[in-house]
Amino acid sequence: MKDKSKRNLIKIGILSGIAGTLGATSSLSKALGIIPTPAEVEGPFYPVVNQQDKDFDLTKIDGRQAVADGTHIIIKGRITDISGNPVENATIDLWQANARGRYRHPRDPNPQSLDPNFQGWAIINSGKDGKFRFKTVKPGAYPASETWVRPPHIHFKISRRGHDPLITQMYFPEEKLNETDLLLRNKKTSERPLMIAKPIGQEGKIAIYQYNIVLT
Ligand SMILES: [Fe+2]
Repeated sequence: MKDKSKRNLIKIGILSGIAGTLGATSSLSKALGIIPTPAEVEGPFYPVVNQQDKDFDLTKIDGRQAVADGTHIIIKGRITDISGNPVENATIDLWQANARGRYRHPRDPNPQSLDPNFQGWAIINSGKDGKFRFKTVKPGAYPASETWVRPPHIHFKISRRGHDPLITQMYFPEEKLNETDLLLRNKKTSERPLMIAKPIGQEGKIAIYQYNIVLT
């Protein structure tokens, strides 16, 4: 056999080996019932003005005494891969509207007022076992057009070397506006529940929601 044909055979072997591994991984995830978190558009309001304080507590800004207006909540979750293994040290970049539905973005046309005590944006990491948590306010709904009101949601960009970056949006349960949202309604019935946080209890008077994320 000529060297070139041999090399081609080796190449085909390597490629089918990779395909075999991917096939096995996806059947494993199917068997485990693990579905990757659906992606969603980034939207127009990713922060464009840098800020010092991007920590896990969005209800307080460093150096200010007062806290953010609105209902304070805690979001807890865990990042895993499609085999259920924890993804540690992933970067979680999240941003949202304040309790009145207004983003701190120069091109947000919403006439609602800014909240000087609301951080609006955080960049945190998943820790041991892929876990993360942050404290924030429940975002307000806001008009996206004359006929479309976006339900409360939080935007996420998640990245970790070795995984596909994920841009998505997390919704809240039992929101009437979820049913008419043009983005959420566009998702498969099997995908929607993966994008809606679950209420899992209280810490004092603060409601806790769980939002788990699966990266590919
Ligand atoms: Fe949004």
